[in-house]
Amino acid sequence: MTTSPEPKAEAGPGATSAAESLRDVVLEARSVFRLRAVEGREMPIVRDVSFAVRAGEFATIMGPSGSGKSTLLHLLAGLDRPSAGQVLVAGEDLGQGDEEYRAAVRRRRIGFIFQFFHLLPDLTVEENVTLPLRIIGQKPKKHRDRVDSLLGLLGVAKLKDRLPQALSGGEMQRVSIARALVTQPPLLLADEPTGNLSSKAGEEVVQLLRDVSTRLGTAVLLVTHNPRDAASGDRVMFLHDGAMRADAELTGGPFDVADVFRRLQELGI
Ligand SMILES: Nc1ncnc2c1ncn2[C@@H]1O[C@H](COP(=O)(O)OP(=O)(O)OP(=O)(O)O)[C@@H](O)[C@H]1O
Ligand SMILES: [Mg+2]
Repeated sequence: MTTSPEPKAEAGPGATSAAESLRDVVLEARSVFRLRAVEGREMPIVRDVSFAVRAGEFATIMGPSGSGKSTLLHLLAGLDRPSAGQVLVAGEDLGQGDEEYRAAVRRRRIGFIFQFFHLLPDLTVEENVTLPLRIIGQKPKKHRDRVDSLLGLLGVAKLKDRLPQALSGGEMQRVSIARALVTQPPLLLADEPTGNLSSKAGEEVVQLLRDVSTRLGTAVLLVTHNPRDAASGDRVMFLHDGAMRADAELTGGPFDVADVFRRLQELGI
């Protein structure tokens, strides 16, 4: 596996400042496209998307149903390959190498959480959380303190011997966040993590994602169509018909939910 800790800055005049500005970039999409066959024709589902997310940043992407949010997130996670363009995670180009290489980058550098949790029903909370450590060949016992502090941070320490079926939706999502973070990835991607939760449980999950970005320095990218969730971000990007509305990005959050609604209305999405 090639390892380059940082994306490389170009040499020449201005190289120092370019290197400075790239230093803490954890995720970078460069002109990413994804084509899919729709009624026999290749159509762009993701169109020319470029942006970067830095360590400790809590960024959100909003967009209506079918705008390409999940497709984009799968490309950013290396679960799918762009038709054109590049995805860099902690300096690793996900377009390079084979599936094994992408899986290796995913296991160590990317945490992913889903709308429907995807916990394994026959494993306890603790076994679910520590599974990614086993997958990369590490003994959970060696990481006892860190696992315990993660379970504590996510508020699920008391539940560690339960099976997923004995948890509420909010608890399941908090467990899946702990599982996503157990290998200490620099990047956490979340696809509509509150979509299957009550409004209160959803708010708690978004607050926890904020805490994770602040306390652990993890870059968090949250995809949502919920303006309330998006308002909690440091930054909101808007996706429409597969393209990022760069002119419409909101920065400097958390925001007033009304600001996000207003922006959506202005954009007609
Ligand atoms: N495997 C596929 N083959 C062809 N088209 C697909 C495929 N998967 C998704 N699409 C299409 O790509 C577009 C974007 O889908 P995507 O699931 O990324 O949207 P989304 O923004 O995540 O929507 P939602 O908010 O409903 O989850 C949609 O028009 C969808 O029908
Ligand atoms: Mg989706």
